[in-house]
Formats: sequence, C-alpha cells, structure tokens
Amino acid sequence: MVDSLALDAVRRLSTGLRRLGDGTDDATTRTDLLHGAWLAGTCLGAVGMSLHHKLCHTLGGSFDLPHAATHTVVLPHAMAYNAAAAPEAMRRIADALDVADAPSGLHDLISRAGGPLALRDLGLGESDIAAVARKAVEKPYPNPAALTREGIEDLLRAAWAGERPQAPASATPGRITEQVVASFAGTPDVRLRRLLTDLVPRLHAFAVENDLTQAEWQTGMDFLTRAGQISNAGRQEFVLLSDTIGLSSVVDLLTNSRTPDSTPSAVLGPFYVEGPPELDQGADIARGLAGTPLYVDVAVTGTDGSPIADAVVDVWQSNDDGFYDVQLPDLDGPVLRGRLRTDTEGRLRFWSILPCEYPIPDDGPVGSMLAATGRHPYRAPHLHFMIGATGYTQLITQLFVQGGEYLDSDAVFGVKDDLIVDFAERSGPTPDSRAVDGPWRSVEFTFRLAGGGE
Ligand SMILES: [Fe+2]
Repeated sequence: MVDSLALDAVRRLSTGLRRLGDGTDDATTRTDLLHGAWLAGTCLGAVGMSLHHKLCHTLGGSFDLPHAATHTVVLPHAMAYNAAAAPEAMRRIADALDVADAPSGLHDLISRAGGPLALRDLGLGESDIAAVARKAVEKPYPNPAALTREGIEDLLRAAWAGERPQAPASATPGRITEQVVASFAGTPDVRLRRLLTDLVPRLHAFAVENDLTQAEWQTGMDFLTRAGQISNAGRQEFVLLSDTIGLSSVVDLLTNSRTPDSTPSAVLGPFYVEGPPELDQGADIARGLAGTPLYVDVAVTGTDGSPIADAVVDVWQSNDDGFYDVQLPDLDGPVLRGRLRTDTEGRLRFWSILPCEYPIPDDGPVGSMLAATGRHPYRAPHLHFMIGATGYTQLITQLFVQGGEYLDSDAVFGVKDDLIVDFAERSGPTPDSRAVDGPWRSVEFTFRLAGGGE
C-alpha cells in the first residue's frame, strides 16, 4: 500500500516539477504537486527512514543547512548509493519518473525545475564533509546498502560539488532481472511460470545484496558440478544438499503435515530404493546381520483409529555400523529394506536390528560444506517407513530411537518430537517365540494416515 502511494507521489511530483520547470504554472500543475506532496508525507509516517534522512538531519541539525534545499540536493546521491542494493525499487522509481535510471533522472529533473544541486551552494564547507560522514555512520540504522565512512564521504563530495550521479554504463542488475522475468511470460505451464518468475529475482537479489564476486559464483558452480559428478543410483548428493540445508524438511512440512490428527511425516532421505524385496509378516529384514535384535510391532490406522488392512509398508534402515546396503558394494543386498503388508487388523510385525546413528556421506561437496561450517554429519538413529493404502494419503516418515545420539542436532533437521519412540530393552522369550540370544529391543507404534473414505 505504501509503495503504491509512494509511486503515485513520484509520478505526480515529477510531472508537476517538469511542467513548472517548463514554465507551466497553472492550477493543474499545482494540484499535482500538492497531491504528490500529501501522498509522500503520508508515506513518511508509515515507514522507517534510512541514509537520506540521516544525512539531511545531520546537515540540518549540526551544520545549519536549509531543510528542503538540503533534501533536494542529497536525494539523488543517496539513491545512487543504494541503487545496487535495491534494484527493484530503483526500477519502479525510474518507471514512475519516466527515466532510464532513477538517481541521474532525478538529478536532471531537479536541474530542469531550477532546484539546488550542490551542498556548497547551501553553505557547507568542503572541510565539513569528513565530520558529516563520521556522524552519519556513528549509530547503525537500517539501510539497503552497507554504510561505510569512505562511501558516505564520496557521496557527500559528489553532492557538495553538484555532480550528476553516474548512471550505470549499460545494463543494471535490475534491468537484467526484468528481462529474464519477461522471458518467462510465454511459459504455458502457469505453475512453472510462477515459480521461475519468483525464483530468478530472488537469486539475482542474493547476488546483488551480497555483492557476489565472480570467484564466489564460480565456487558455487564448481560445488554444484561436483555434486552432480559424485551422484549415481546409490549416491544422491543433491538430496543430501537439500536435506542438510533443511529445504527437504521445509517442503515436507508444507506438503505432508497439514492434518494435525495424522502421524507427522519426515524426509525421504537419499537411501530409499524403488521396488524393495517383498517380505512376509514376521520376516527378519536384517537377514542375520550382526546387531541388537529388534522386534517391530506397528499398526496402521486412519485418523479415527480404524485399522487399515493390506497397507503397503516399505521399511529401510542402516546396519549396525551406520551404513545402508547401497553404500556397501560388497554386500549381497538388498538387505535391511523390504516391502511388507498389514494384516486384516492393520497390524505389521517383523524383525530387524536396532538402527544406530550414522554420518551422511561426507566425502563429497556436501561434506565440505558441513566441514566449512563446523557442523557434524550425523543423523540421529532411526527407522524409515513409507506407507501407502488405497484412499489414504501416503505417509513417509521415520521413527527415532529415544535416548539416541544427535536427536538435538540431526544433520538433516528431520527429528520431530512425536516421532521419538521408546525402543524398549527386553530380554527373555520373544512374542513370536523366535530364539534370540541375549537382550533384544522392541518398538510399538501406530501410524495414523490422513484421508480415507474415498
Ligand atoms: Fe536414514
């Protein structure tokens, strides 16, 4: 709302000043100017002030310069200082001023209207510039571009001398952004058009606001290239990247956790393999691998608690050393993964081994990123589930071992309180009379699926 008031003010004030400068001093011109001034004043009351006002208050308050004239002189230079950090705002102001470049266009408008252009004409001494700059950066205040004393001194020197702010030689970032966004206008897929039209300006703004260097950009390109080169059917570096920056968990939350009564979801992770081996109830998915035996006894129901029979349940997990079968080329897999089905009461029981914490593969670019940021690569111990049943929303989730390591600092931000479960320590006879030497564990859980009835 404030932006639209401001742009209307810019249009009316520039039109009025242009007409006034050209000698047309009539009621229409004055109406436009008054209307624009009122709109602009209304904007001032609704937003915060930054570099321009700080400079003008310093010049007025400490150096006794006249208020309106000082604002007139400083504004094009304050805009030029911020232009690269606020390209979209500058583009909109330039459009409202009907010029190619906002800061130099405003300078030209002031000149044409006969306004003041130089601080030296308002009584500021050149020797005062350093003191003004020092005062202006004394207390931090919000501003699009970073505030440096040298930068402010350059700005003030240009304003003192009445120089015309330099318009960028040819292309500005804002213009390029505009052209790229325009190039998507003919995208037939509406959703694709929307996503690209939103993504590209954010990427450009990231580059502009961080003053991204060519070398940094090249490092980023190399990083992504290495992520591609290290990826194959068993190594999903881009999934790891998405997981370790939390994007997978954000998308997972948006997609899957909008029904409070259903079991929370968790990320798929990089180790799921399509078409796992079909196993019968009671099977041991560990197929005799070493580890603490684990008896899994789960139920699948709707949100109302009604059992779901014949639900397809894919399970997968790491071995006792923290590796998945796809990471172990010498292993006769698949193992520690399988597809099972719930019985008529919606129950599913099978054997496995206790999952342990494990590092995500950190010998690639994602590992470099974790090392560079001082992060560990460990995931809290967990068991993966993907549950599908006709008429219900698919549930992809994980059960985390209560008391396990890294529950508070999971490398992929995947732990949810409701999914931390007691993997109870047991000994003695097992529920299905399977012979087990020594202690074993058991876990019970009820998965509640959203949807149902269709
Ligand atoms: Fe996992």
